[in-house]
Amino acid sequence: MKIYSSFISQRFRLLTLTVFSILSFSYNIHAQDGDAAAGEQLFQANCSSCHLPHMDATGPALKGARERWIENSSEENFYAWIKNSKKLIDAGEPYANSIYKEWNKTAMTPQALTNEQIDDIFAYVEEYQPPVSETASTDAVGVGGEEEGSDAIWWIIGVLLIVVVGAAGTVRGQLSKIAKVQAGEPIDESETVVQGARRWAWNNRGWFGVVVLVVVVALLTAGMMDLMKIGVFEDYQPEQPIEYSHKLHAGDLAIDCKYCHNAVTKSKHATIPTVNVCMNCHKQVAEGTNTGTAEIDKIYAAAGWDKATKTYSGKTQPIQWVKVHNLPDHVYFNHSQHVEVGGIDCAQCHGDMKRETVARVMSTEDLNNVGVNNPDQEENPIKFTRPTLTMGWCIECHQLSNVDVAGSHIPGADESEDSYYGVIHQRLLKDKETYQKYLEDDAVSVAELGGWECAKCHY
Ligand code: HEC
Ligand code: HEC
Ligand code: HEC
Ligand code: HEC
Ligand code: HEC
Ligand code: HEC
Repeated sequence: MKIYSSFISQRFRLLTLTVFSILSFSYNIHAQDGDAAAGEQLFQANCSSCHLPHMDATGPALKGARERWIENSSEENFYAWIKNSKKLIDAGEPYANSIYKEWNKTAMTPQALTNEQIDDIFAYVEEYQPPVSETASTDAVGVGGEEEGSDAIWWIIGVLLIVVVGAAGTVRGQLSKIAKVQAGEPIDESETVVQGARRWAWNNRGWFGVVVLVVVVALLTAGMMDLMKIGVFEDYQPEQPIEYSHKLHAGDLAIDCKYCHNAVTKSKHATIPTVNVCMNCHKQVAEGTNTGTAEIDKIYAAAGWDKATKTYSGKTQPIQWVKVHNLPDHVYFNHSQHVEVGGIDCAQCHGDMKRETVARVMSTEDLNNVGVNNPDQEENPIKFTRPTLTMGWCIECHQLSNVDVAGSHIPGADESEDSYYGVIHQRLLKDKETYQKYLEDDAVSVAELGGWECAKCHY
């Protein structure tokens, strides 16, 4: 009995060790001293005007800075640098002088921080992940931003399961072998692994059948779910060539959407503003709070603007914005019809862009939550159940929206003052019998007006 238990416990220890080391690995790489939440506030207050955690701005990217200092100088000097970089530079510290030179001799402001506070800041910096979803970044336009990360987890769980089942199987096999030896029964040593596996599957056919069934059903379900996702663009958020923020421009600076998307009331397309629109302000504004000059310099490169001489060189290159919303070619959608004629607020379809940094296709939930707990933004009158930009989404809204006929038509007023729809409405009223079913609820929905006809939306 003793051999069994020591044998099992040995195997079991090995197995649990493997499982735990795999599981804990993913936690260990992020382990950091310091309080990241407190660090975020300190970072925003003292460093964010010049630094970004993950990329160069006015100062270098801060990720990995502690390691760089330990490698090239010392940790002591790392703290000393942040508290007063000038002191180190003047003292002739070689690494301090090398980065000072590399960054064009822009000095860092002295910081009244303790070592603990610096640890907090770097706990935040090392933990920081840029907000853009990695998978969507390089995808071709129109590919939905699916979460690849969760797939990896399933793979790991799957592999772990196989390891566990395999290990349990071997333990069982060894045990029965030992039991047979002890009972004096013969063991068929000539049996190959495949034969053994087949015999094992046959002996355990009940369980084996259940497992196969579960696997097949799981694969089929996964396949179906993937098919359902075709044509669903929700949360698609590509990386853009310039870190332009709607929150800053449309929110904090309160620039009207139509100032930049100026075709939206007149044409099918809302259009993305040209670089000239940016230059209206950015001729003067050469530096931003969060990105310093790094991002705005890209505007200058596109416009061919030399900020030293304040002249245009004439060498322009268009900014390659990545299209976020993209309906298939067989669909006709017109902005002016919705915004100008229908009087629909942008937020109804695009969510609250005044709070967004990088543009994305909003999810149904985002759209339904617009204005909730936000006194500055009207709540969306229609709550959607269908994924944004799908046909179901258009159809649902056309069923629930009413055409504003009465608003522009005053009964008894001069016919010439009537709007396009007012005139149609009057004609309908004259023939109540034919049109009774449209008029009985005293409202004309977009669907009743033809918003459900295939040809209205399809070429
Ligand atoms: C006024 C702009 C400014 C502010 C504010 C600022 N820095 Fe810097 N920082 C720089 C510049 C510029 C450099 C590049 C070296 C130089 O020119 O002095 C730098 C370099 C550094 C380095 C060295 C990076 C490396 O690669 O070794 C660290 C670390 C650093 N800063 C940390 C901080 C921290 C932490 C804060 C906030 C507590 C902060 N800085 C605030 C401008 C700034
Ligand atoms: C200062 C100019 C500016 C203002 C103001 C502005 N935008 Fe934009 N908008 C842009 C730029 C530049 C892009 C392209 C970059 C991007 O997609 O993030 C864009 C992209 C978009 C997109 C995604 C376009 C696509 O590719 O599908 C939507 C939707 C949008 N804006 C809506 C709005 C709304 C709604 C407002 C008002 C609340 C607004 N914008 C205000 C400049 C502006
Ligand atoms: C009824 C829903 C709806 C409303 C309201 C709406 N949009 Fe759009 N918007 C869309 C759809 C759908 C697309 C995708 C069009 C395409 O791919 O052809 C889009 C695309 C865009 C784009 C990308 C460029 C383009 O023209 O394709 C911008 C920018 C934009 N909208 C801005 C706005 C702004 C600003 C407003 C408010 C003034 C607004 N939209 C109102 C549904 C809407
Ligand atoms: C109506 C004026 C105006 C227009 C138009 C405008 N901007 Fe800005 N932008 C500003 C101001 C003001 C700031 C500085 C805000 C601050 O203090 O950080 C700024 C900052 C920025 C920043 C730096 C943000 C940061 O925090 O580091 C970027 C990038 C930027 N704008 C891109 C653009 C692009 C791209 C366009 C054209 C599509 C554009 N802007 C159009 C006024 C404007
Ligand atoms: C937020 C609600 C809403 C959404 C979402 C919406 N629409 Fe509309 N749509 C309207 C309203 C309201 C009108 C009527 C405007 C008017 O008064 O003419 C309309 C009118 C139309 C018309 C003209 C219908 C006619 O009878 O002439 C077309 C075409 C159309 N929409 C296409 C689309 C497509 C395509 C989509 C999806 C990509 C879409 N709409 C999404 C509200 C919406
Ligand atoms: C209110 C606008 C609207 C109306 C009306 C409409 N469609 Fe669509 N349809 C769309 C949009 C938008 C898409 C693209 C959806 C996507 O890419 O996920 C689409 C996609 C499709 C597709 C491609 C398959 C798919 O799901 O992507 C077919 C087929 C189709 N429509 C057929 C029809 C037929 C048949 C009718 C009439 C009964 C009709 N549509 C009426 C807006 C409309």
